[in-house]
Parts: sequence; C-alpha cells; structure tokens
Amino acid sequence: MKRTLSSVAVSLAVLVNAGCSQEQKQQENTQIETQTETSQQLWPKINNQVAKLNDVEERVSEIMATMTLEQKIAQMIQPEIRDITVEDMRKYGFGSYLNGGGAFPNNDKHAKVEDWVALAEKMYQASIDDSLDGSTIPTMWGTDAVHGHNNVIGATLFPHNIGLGAANNPELIEKIAKVTATEVLATGIDWIFAPTVAAVRDDRWGRTYEGYSEDPEIIKAYSHAIVTGLQGEPGEGFLGQGNVISTVKHFVGDGGTVGGDDQGDNVSSEEELYKIHAQGYVGGLNAGAQSVMASFNSWHGEKIHGNKYLLNDVLKDRMGFDGFVVGDWNGHGQVAGCTNASCPQSINAGLDIFMVPGDWKALYDNTLAQVQSGEIPQSRIDDAVRRILRVKVRAGLFEKPSPAQRLYAAKSELIGKQEHREVARQAVRESLVLLKNNEQILPLKPNTKVLVTGDAANNIGKQSGGWTITWQGTNNENADFPGGTSIWDGISAQVEAAGGKAELSEDGSFEQKPDVAIVVFGEEPYAEGHGDRANLEYQASDKRDLALLKQLKEQGIPVVAVFISGRPMWVNPELNASDAFVAAWLPGSEGLAVADVLFTDAEGEVQHDFTGRLSYSWPKTPTQIVNRGDDNYDPLLPYGFGLSYGDQSTLSNELDEQASSANSQQSSVALFTGTVQKPWQMWLYSGDESFTVSANTHEVGALFYRTIDKVVQEDARKLRFDGSANAGIRLASKSFFREDLRAKLGTDVQLSLNINLAQAPTDAVYLTLNCESEGDVAGSCVAKVGISEQLKAMELNTWQALSVDLNCFAAQGFKLQSTVVPFELSTSGKLDISIADINLEKKPEQGSQLSCH
Ligand code: BGC
Ligand code: BGC
Repeated sequence: MKRTLSSVAVSLAVLVNAGCSQEQKQQENTQIETQTETSQQLWPKINNQVAKLNDVEERVSEIMATMTLEQKIAQMIQPEIRDITVEDMRKYGFGSYLNGGGAFPNNDKHAKVEDWVALAEKMYQASIDDSLDGSTIPTMWGTDAVHGHNNVIGATLFPHNIGLGAANNPELIEKIAKVTATEVLATGIDWIFAPTVAAVRDDRWGRTYEGYSEDPEIIKAYSHAIVTGLQGEPGEGFLGQGNVISTVKHFVGDGGTVGGDDQGDNVSSEEELYKIHAQGYVGGLNAGAQSVMASFNSWHGEKIHGNKYLLNDVLKDRMGFDGFVVGDWNGHGQVAGCTNASCPQSINAGLDIFMVPGDWKALYDNTLAQVQSGEIPQSRIDDAVRRILRVKVRAGLFEKPSPAQRLYAAKSELIGKQEHREVARQAVRESLVLLKNNEQILPLKPNTKVLVTGDAANNIGKQSGGWTITWQGTNNENADFPGGTSIWDGISAQVEAAGGKAELSEDGSFEQKPDVAIVVFGEEPYAEGHGDRANLEYQASDKRDLALLKQLKEQGIPVVAVFISGRPMWVNPELNASDAFVAAWLPGSEGLAVADVLFTDAEGEVQHDFTGRLSYSWPKTPTQIVNRGDDNYDPLLPYGFGLSYGDQSTLSNELDEQASSANSQQSSVALFTGTVQKPWQMWLYSGDESFTVSANTHEVGALFYRTIDKVVQEDARKLRFDGSANAGIRLASKSFFREDLRAKLGTDVQLSLNINLAQAPTDAVYLTLNCESEGDVAGSCVAKVGISEQLKAMELNTWQALSVDLNCFAAQGFKLQSTVVPFELSTSGKLDISIADINLEKKPEQGSQLSCH
C-alpha cells in the first residue's frame, strides 16, 4: 500500500522535473503531501544546527559562477589511488578521491605516515593547480577508517561495531570517533566512510560485524555520537582542525536484504525501512553528518543507486539533508541499464559523487556528453556541485593550509598513541559478553597455571577481522601490528606478574597440567560478500575447535572459551564443552584488555566486571534468523543478555546439538536453472577478453552465445565455439566472492548438467572449478576435468544428463568450502553445444559410473 503511494510520489516528481510551472509544481506537491501522509510522517525533517550556523551559500554561488561544466563534472568523480596518478589529478581536478580497503600510497602496505601525507599533499597541490584544468578547488581524500584508521600500520584498531554495540556506551563512541579523527588527520586525510549504521536483521550477512546492532535503538544513539566525535558539534569549531567529514552509510536497508545476501534485495515495507533501517540516518543527520553513502542493495528489486524516491525525495527533500550523496564502489554500475562507465540514471536519481575506482575516464566523458545532450539536466549537476562545495566550505577546505601543513599532519606519534590505545582497551573490556559461567569459574586468579590455546590466542590479525590493513583482513601477521597486543599477551603479562605460569600452545598440548585452559578460537577474517554464509553454524564442516575444547575437558581441565566472531553463531556444541564462554567479537589491536576482565588482580579483586550485553540475539539453531521484537521471539539468548560476576549462569550444559549441519544440508544447490542463481553471475571469455552476460546474444572472439528454449522460454544456453581461441563460459560471483558450498552440501557431491550437442568437439573440452584457499595465491586451487570423451559418446541433438564426481576436482586441490567458480566449460576447439540445469548435488546412493579424466 505504502509502496504504491510512494511510486505516485516518484512519478509526480518526474513530471515536476520535466519542466512544469512553479504553480503546477506547488499543486503537485500538495497532492503528494496529502496522498502520502503516512509516508511523509515516516521521514521527518532532520534537526541540526549546521545550516543555520554556516551561511555558506553565497560563497558557493561565487565559486560556481566561475566554473565550467568540465570542472563541475570533475567534482562529481571519485577515482581510487591505485587507478590515478598525481598528473591525472592535475589534469582533471577531481573533487575527491579514495583509497579502498587495502590500498596504500605507493602500493606499500608498510607505507609510513610521511608517505600518506606526501600523497595527500601532492594530490592537493595538483588539485589546486589550475594550469591544466583551470580549477583551484581543493580535492578531498576519503578513506574507510571503520574501526580506527585501519589501513595504516600501527594505528589504534578498535573493536568492530558489533562489539561496540555490546558496550552500549555512546560517550565511549564519541571518544573513539575523536581518536579515529586524530589518527586520520595525521595522515593528511579529510574524510572517512563511517559510520555504518546498518540494522542487521540476518546474521548470515558478511557485514554483520560492521553493524552496531540488530535493533535501531543503539544505532540511532551511536550514529549521533560518532558523527559528533568525528565532525565536532555544529556551531563554533564545527569541522575544525581536529575533525574529519563523516559518512553515514549505506543508505538504506543494507542490513535487511533477503537471506542476508550482501548487496541483495531489501523487501521491507516503507514503514520498516524507516523505523528499522533508517534510524541511523536520523541520529547521524541530526548530528550534522555531511555525507551519506548510497547502498549497493536494492529496495523491492530496484538498486538504491538509481532510486530517485529514496535518494532525492526522501533523503534530500523530506529529511532535508543538504550535504552530498556519495556512491559506493561502482554501485552505479549495478543500476539497470548502467555500466561503471555510464550512468545518467544515478545522477538523475540524486547521486552527487560517483565512487568509480577505475572507469573514471570513460564515466567523466560520458557524463559530460549526457549533460550536453540534455539527458542529465544542468540543474541536477548544479545541485550536486553546490552540495559538494557546501561541504568543502563548511569543512574549511578553502582556508585550511595544505595537508602537509595542517595541525596534526605527519605527527607519527599520534598513530597508535598510548592514550588512544587506552580508549580502545576500555572498548574491548566493555564489549565482552559473558554467555556462560558455571560455578563462577570466572574471574580467574592470576597466580595459577594457565594454558592458553586455540589459533586465535596469539593472532592479532584474526582478532581484528576484516577491514584490517587489507580489505579482507587476511594475510596479516602479528608483526604488522606494531604496538598492538594479542589476547595471549595480556594473559601472560597478568599471570607472570602475579607469579603464576602461562603457557601458550596452539593445539592444546602442555608440559605441566594447567589449573585452567583458556581457548581462544573463532571465525577467520572476511569482508563484505566474502563473509556471507549459508547458515550460522560455527565450523559446520570442521569441528576442530570443538575437539580441542572436548580434549581439554576430558582431561579434567576447566575450560574458558573466548570466541572471536563477526556475528552470533550457533555454537551449542562448543558451549556444552565449555565451563565459561565469552563472546569477544572482533576486539582489534588491543587484545591485552581481554585479560583485564578475565582475571582478578593479585589480591583476588575483580579488576573489571563484564558489562557487555548482546546487541544481537543469539540463535538457537543454525538456521534461526531472530531479532528483538519478533513475534514468537525465541532465541537461545535474548537481546540484552550478558552475565556479570556473581550472576547465576543459566545455560544448560546439554544444549541441543542435533540441529547440526547434517540437518541443514540440502540435496542440491542450483547454479543455473534458466536464470543464473545467486550469488553467481555468468561470464563469457575468449582469449583475454571477458565480461558478464548482459544480453540474450553475445559474440566474443571464438564464442557465440545465445539463450534458447529447452522446456520453457530461455531456460537453456547455446554455445558455439569456432576454435580460433580458447574460450569458455563461467559462473562466478560478482567480485569473485568465496562461497562455502560444503556447509550446504556436505562432501559427497557431483556437478551435473543437461547437454544437447549439435556438433561434437574437435578438441579437448574441460569443466573447470576454482576456489580461493586462504592465504594462497589466487588460482592455486583450479581443477580441470576433461569431458570430450563423454561428449563424443553422446547422441547428437537430444538432451542428456552429464555428471562429474566432485572428488575428481578435489583430487586436484579444489575445495568446495571456498568455491569461487562452481562451473566453467571451455575449449580451444570447435564445438556446438547447448547447456541447461546446472546443479551441484549429492551423489546418488547407487554409484553411477563417474570417472575422472
Ligand atoms: C577495495 C575495497 C572495496 C572492494 C569493493 C576492493 O578491492 O579495496 O575497498 O570495498 O574492492 O569490491
Ligand atoms: C564498501 C564501502 C566502502 C567502499 C570503499 C565498498 O565496497 O561497501 O563500505 O566505503 O567500498 O572502500
């Protein structure tokens, strides 16, 4: 119902744009108002003092009066440091630029503070150099400082947002924001892409840990606090020397996609969208946030990057947001009819800055042409540029000295400064949630024999999660965190100081029988879609940590589990095997603070009690998707749960373990059923050329492709290879995300499809699968199985089934649990083949004759 009303508003707004008189416009607006009363009440005007206290419009008008169209478009283009040079900046004068997760000056992971500042300075000087582009408008640099300044070696890394949510302390959040701003300013950077204010409704989502909570209550308060900490209070001193520009992201509904699918579809009603998913914007915009990032997700099938109703009518008009909307990483390219290099739809919908890492040149040219042809109205460009410049004026960018001359610039002592780490340590302590504490086994006395085990015990990278130095947070060693500490570091320091004995062993073996074992284990780092999971079972396919817990328990050693994770998970077996269980989330660089809570001081006094409380409900089964406020709310542990010292532990030692993966496994996973199943996309390639399928016919080098009908319309694909190059068809997810298909299917699996041959192969034909094995070089788990023999034996022009045992691929190193390419068919010869119904499925009981070639 509300949806219908909002589409009325959308179409009227389009009419308005098409050039009606002022009077008509007012009439239309009154109509909209009356018709969408309910919807209007959902998006009340924001209430912040920024506009009133900064009368900048005249200044902006003066600047704009001198600008050419080219200069204006350049303000709207945001390329990435790996894809531009300083000379590009001089020539185009981009309004902003970014470094993506894991992008550093000179591509050097160990870049020093001076290197960051040097790049900022060069880019800035090139931007104000008018020799080529005629513009002197300073550029600005945006970065993902999402848990501290996480791309920079030695920075203070705070717990990820899920842990901060458990701390439920807005004052602490404001302090964290100030520290983050200071460290970011030390590197010469102006602007950060935080906070993420997703209300995470399905914890299978790979970005669950980037959210503070499943419930808007904490999110709204935190968003206000963090924006205030980053930008300063509106009024005197707002966006001053100690502040950075903040971005509330990702607008809107990123945490509410169907199935927790990253970048997927949110089908909430408009009321839910506002009341659950948009509350972070209410909090953040009321605090004066100057930018909002559009989200990759769709709302009812329409990508937000092209949604005029939400970006323009709701956010800008009704809520009255007067800063700018920045896109997400090529997010515009996902809008129907757009590519990364061309998307008038996004600008027309209200996007002000394109985040376009690599395709900026073509996008700039195309956008220019689209304004010249009238496809994008000049008024929209002027509005976007006004918003960008308004923020630049408010941030004092025209007055501030160049990046190298600013107050904090290049002060390397600010990176990971002791006072900053103290704030992070407080955050770690407050984020820990005690789920179980049999016989008050915690707190521990330090003057004892303590075994510390589990592969996260002495692993700062693992305890920090994704968005840590690299985008995925993988491939980091303790040496990459100078000044940082592991959980082991804190435990050993406290135990040794009290005269006890701490022993570290990853596998749980020991020299002397300990009084207690602390087992630190959990999820490997991941970011974005790489972290999407089929269900919430911890280690569905490999219960190695459970075995470790049990092995210690069987020896009569009391076991304290410290669980590192980016989300609540189904850990019933691990809970049963532990005497005490702490949800530690992703604490960041200050692992030593965990011991402050686990141990008493030498006199036996509690140093810090547990104060963390779940800001996410803890699931009862691997497939339970449960949130505060649900009807029949029945989690294992509710929102708000968390024991303090002295509290009676309530969890049974015999929680149900039956619900394990065996039950949540499926008999098949469809990859292609006429449409390509999520999260896969279909790619075609020939020689070096490759692209995703976007039409029903394509010709690429040696390969001709078209949709054909097997049973219903367009449920099959015809592929004709002419033998002039190696060519193929491949399924892979966008961005080549890794999928755990073993959790879904188990181990006895085959790949099956239907085939109809028009012409038998003249050369070898391969089925190829590919995965990404942690830490390994990409491509190291490619596995190829030849199928030409089977094809040659097939009758022509009839549909027939073909299956290949996955063991044939596994034997070559392919791992189903980290599938990146679940299907690929290729040949260098001639072949005319149609394919349909591609599945991964459990092998039939009666072994069919599957052989490997
Ligand atoms: C970048 C990230 C970005 C991601 C998007 C990576 O290469 O480093 O910052 O979020 O791509 O797919
Ligand atoms: C993420 C954003 C991030 C951007 C830049 C995207 O992939 O979704 O959160 O700000 O990359 O790195």
